[in-house]
Amino acid sequence: MAFRCKIIVLACVIALASSQGFKSSKRKPASPAPPAHAASDPETEITSSCPEDGFFADAEQCDKYYQCSNGEITEKLCPDGMVFNDYNPQDEKCDLPFNLDCSQRPKLQTPIPSQHCVRQNGYFPHEEPHECGKFFYCVDGKFNMITCPEDLVYNEKTGICTWADEAKKKGCGAADIFQFKCPEVNETFALTHPRYADPDDCQFFYVCINGNVPRRGGCKLGQAFDDVQKKCEWARKVPECKDWYKDRLTDAELDALENPPVAKPKPSGSPSRRKPQRPKLGKQAETVEE
Ligand SMILES: *[C@@H]1O[C@H](CO)[C@@H](O)[C@H](O)[C@H]1NC(C)=O
Repeated sequence: MAFRCKIIVLACVIALASSQGFKSSKRKPASPAPPAHAASDPETEITSSCPEDGFFADAEQCDKYYQCSNGEITEKLCPDGMVFNDYNPQDEKCDLPFNLDCSQRPKLQTPIPSQHCVRQNGYFPHEEPHECGKFFYCVDGKFNMITCPEDLVYNEKTGICTWADEAKKKGCGAADIFQFKCPEVNETFALTHPRYADPDDCQFFYVCINGNVPRRGGCKLGQAFDDVQKKCEWARKVPECKDWYKDRLTDAELDALENPPVAKPKPSGSPSRRKPQRPKLGKQAETVEE
């Protein structure tokens, strides 16, 4: 337009003048002012006014929030992977989403992935589905691999290691983790959470939750699960396990475990005896005391 006007200036002047005249002829007559009680759109009013100074969650997006300061609003975004904690309007706080309810404001910013990190911050399952107990902890896009204690499975919903039957991770159920299937029992017996010796390891046993979901438990060092008494017993007293510790512990060490020496005053002059080590528990949380 500018180029053409340089050449035919007069034509342009005429064209502009006529277009303006055309516009003004179409202008509507001024309407009377709206009545005073006609409120503005209520939605605009909510999002554009500050209730008080502080930090407020966005109504739709869990990682978006607003800072109100002297009536002015600033839109803010949590670091990728974190969500705004709206517990206290005086606190500017973003947290990992595990203990926060985002169900009413489920939208999130576009993820910024990096190696092993689906988002820049958070806990993420291992990419290999059969790596049941491994996961990544990401901070600012940098990962750390974490391994759950033996037999436990990473639970995506809670971000912690739990029993296979609780984690409900595909391919990582109790049947996949343990080479053990709970025997079928009647309903009454199932409710007692029956126990069975681990067929492969004398120190361990399975508790079948409600009769059908196995969890592995361990006995103290030196003990074995007695499948007749259904409890942990010193291995040497369990016929099928009497030699279980033969390669790891001497008879003297087993004696010491079975009869922990009571503390008594040392006879003077005698060399101090090596204190027997405190028996180590199995890796599992569950240990059966006699
Ligand atoms: C259930 O099974 C247990 C163990 O096998 C048995 O002792 C009990 O009598 C059975 N109970 C019923 C109601 O069948």
